[in-house]
Order: sequence, then C-alpha cells, then structure tokens
Amino acid sequence: MKHTKINDLLAGKGLLHEVKAKGWVKTFRNNQFIALNDGSTINNIQCVVDLDKFPAELLKKIHTGAAISVRGTLVESQGAGQTVEIQVENLKVYGEANPEEYPIQPKKHSLEFLRENAHLRIRTNVFGAIMRVRSVLSYAVHKYFQENGFFYFNAPIITGSDAEGAGEMFRVTNLDLNNLPRTEEGKIDFSQDFFGKTTNLTVSGQLEAETYAMALGSVYTFGPTFRAENSNTSRHLAEFWMIEPEVAFNNLDDNMDLAEDFIKYVINYVLDKCADDLAFLDKRLQDEEKTKPQAERSEMTLLEKLRFVVDNNFKRVSYTEAVDILRNCKPNKNKKFKYIIDGWGADLQSEHERYLVEKHFKCPVILFDYPAEIKAFYMRMNEDGKTVRAMDILFPGIGEIVGGSQREERYDVLLEKIEKMGIDKEELWWYLDTRKFGTAPHSGFGLGFERLVLFATGMTNIRDVIPFPRTPQNAEF
Ligand code: 4AD
Ligand code: MG
Repeated sequence: MKHTKINDLLAGKGLLHEVKAKGWVKTFRNNQFIALNDGSTINNIQCVVDLDKFPAELLKKIHTGAAISVRGTLVESQGAGQTVEIQVENLKVYGEANPEEYPIQPKKHSLEFLRENAHLRIRTNVFGAIMRVRSVLSYAVHKYFQENGFFYFNAPIITGSDAEGAGEMFRVTNLDLNNLPRTEEGKIDFSQDFFGKTTNLTVSGQLEAETYAMALGSVYTFGPTFRAENSNTSRHLAEFWMIEPEVAFNNLDDNMDLAEDFIKYVINYVLDKCADDLAFLDKRLQDEEKTKPQAERSEMTLLEKLRFVVDNNFKRVSYTEAVDILRNCKPNKNKKFKYIIDGWGADLQSEHERYLVEKHFKCPVILFDYPAEIKAFYMRMNEDGKTVRAMDILFPGIGEIVGGSQREERYDVLLEKIEKMGIDKEELWWYLDTRKFGTAPHSGFGLGFERLVLFATGMTNIRDVIPFPRTPQNAEF
C-alpha cells in the first residue's frame, strides 16, 4: 500500500479508510500518542497506538527523531488540537534515534547550536518552515518572470570578469599550488592554467545577462553567486543566490516599477501558499520580541510587515534627498552613527539605510541617482555628470535588498568610464561590443534571494535561511 503525505491526510484525504503514513517522530506521549511529521507540512498527524497491540520492545524504539511507518484507519479525532488521527494497526520502525545521542530533542534549541548541526536542524519546526517558504519563494520567482514574458538565462558560474569591479572574487584554478608555473619575470603563469587565463567564481551574472537582453528582450538569472568579502555580518554570505532581471528598453523608472511589482508578487504568493508556516514564524517572532525591552520591540508582527509591503507603495527618494535627511537627523548630530554623514558623496552604510527605512520613512525605500564615484562602472551617467541612474531598495530589518541601475548604453561614455576607473578594457571587449552593435537603453537589478527569505520569514541571521551557509572560516557540510 502506498503511503499518503501528511498534509493530504490532515486535509481529510482517506477519512474512514485505511491509510499509511511515513515520517519522523516528533514526540511520543504517554506511550500512546505519536506526533508524526513527514516534512510536507509544519503540522504533525497524531497516531494513536494501542499499547496491548504492540510488543514493548517495538514501542521502546519510538523516540523523537525515529523514522517510522504506520498503517491504520484515519478517523476524526476526539482530542483537542487536531481534526483527524490515525488509529494505528501496524507499525514499523525504519531507523531509531537514540535519545542519548540525537541532538534534536523536543525542547528549545538555540539557533547557534542548530547552525552547528545544520545537517539535522531541518528536522526542527522552525527550519522546516523556513525552508518550505524558501522553496515556495523560489517557485514564485520563476512564476513571476515566466508569466511576464521573461526568459530564464543561465549565467556562467566560472567567469573571467569582475562585474562589480570590487575584486572580491574566489579564484578558480587547477594549477598545482605547491608547484606553480612561472613566467620569465617570476610571476605566476596563468596561461598554463585550465582556461589559459585567470578565472573566478561569478560575483554577478549581469554583464552576461545584458548580452542576452539585447536579443531576447527580457531575461532573468537565478543562480549561485560568490563573494569573498570578509564581512562576518548577519546579512552577508560568501555563497548566495541572486535573481537578476535585465530588460531591453527599460529606463530607471521602469526598473523601479518592475522591482516593486516583482517583490510584492512573490511576498503575496507566499502569504497565500505558506499560511501555516508563516503563522508559526509569526508566533516565533512575537515570542522572541517579548524577550526584548519595550523600546526595541518591532511595531509590527511578521504577517503585518509582509502585508504592509504588499499593500503600500515603496517610497522613492533621491540619494541627495536622503543625504539631507541623514545629515540633519538626531543620530548623526549626536554622533550615534559609526560613520557620520557630513556631506554629499558619502557611501551609505547599513546603519544609515536602516535609519531611513525603519525610523524616518517607516516603509520600504527606493534610493536612486547615486554619486557616480561610489557605484559600478556600468551605470548610466546623468546629465549632471555627477550622479548615475542607480537604485537600491532598502527594507526594514534588512537594509539593502536590491541593487540595480539603468545601464550606460553609449559606447563612448562607457569606454571613458572604464578607462577612468582603471578597468582592463581588453577583458570587456565583448561587453563593449554590445554598445557597438545595436545598442539600446536597458536596465536591470539584482535581488539577494537570502535577504528576501530573511524578510519573508522574520529571521535575523542570513545563515539561517540557506541550507548550508558559507561564511568566512566556515564551509562545514
Ligand atoms: O548590489 P549588488 O552588488 O548588485 C549587483 O551585483 C548587480 N550586478 C545587480 C544587477 O544590477 N544585476 O548585489 C545585488 C544584491 C544586493 O542588493 C544584496 O541583496 C545581494 O545581492 N547581496 C548579497 N547577499 C548575501 N550575501 C552577500 N555577500 C551579498 N552581496 C550582495
Ligand atoms: Mg549593492
């Protein structure tokens, strides 16, 4: 007999019939009630065991974490807390989980402890909820773009270019590090490396995506991205997933409209499809908030925050306006910021971004028209010759969630910029070609998928929203 997923059983599929369920024991109460979970939902099904029917040796094997199969009748439940339950007639244990050794016991574990047990943490309610939401969100990403005329573009993971010009790249090589080939001048001879040149893991698929937008019109990437930033923060990963749409003939306003519409769509989608998981995460966050002093507590619950984003327009503010606000705000004047804003041109740190979003505007903010000096080479220069058509979207609790721009489509202007910034134009010959042949205005952005998952789940550390986080000094599992 085939087994049925627990979410289907809980929905009443097979009621009053014989059913089979397979999963992992959450708890075993009074030697009678097994709470069984198979990952299909955060909810467990109660399996009622008649003590007299089963040998004591078999029941002894049922512990939190054990994998079992039960067969029995699905009946309406008399007990509180569930609508249906299985009256067990047959019970099989696949694998025990010795309670002396199994780390995931039915009690509260700290997130730090669970990070050290990332291979088992998915068996907790909180990680089950997060990773189901993550999966549904990624489906929503594809659904949105596919239904809006975009083509999925797979950017190369190994590249020879540094799209962001930030130099935070992981080298890819198969040279023997103990015996490196040298040139006559004594430098490492990368012509003998696998690709005959230096290569690295991609920091962004944008430059390649641009070449495809120039033929397919609207494309998007959704893939792994790597940055060797040595920033041990709760918002940075060395390996993360980025979504990068790129659209021919879009200007910056179109780009902002797209980003806002896209984010609202995917949040709305999880609100609709992940009600149980979000209700659990909402309660978890409320419990956590209660442990904080009143002044630090969030004004909104998780569900309220998600609905707020879906229901309200993002505030669009130029960089220049934002700097004015920051320069005159209390924490700047009282020197409460780590980095004091004293003039136009300063790069904004996450403390500033969060002030704008959480204290000043109290809603998601799109900042645009940044100083050219602090942004990447490919952004379109404005008439003022000082600012570029960049935009960053800032979210409460997160800071920057999206970075994007209208691209510099004018060959001469782009070339001048590349030379001014000291970027090797030979490396970018193919990118420059797109400006030589049929160039056109175009725009795009990058959204850090884990930052989106952070927001959607109300979690606070990015290491908790990707299955096996890679961060400085940490690549376990
Ligand atoms: O702002 P970034 O660096 O923009 C780009 O890479 C552009 N090429 C995107 C484009 O226009 N197509 O990165 C985009 C987003 C950030 O806003 C952030 O959400 C996320 O990627 N991100 C990270 N997420 C986790 N860990 C890191 N180390 C991240 N670095 C960037
Ligand atoms: Mg950025």
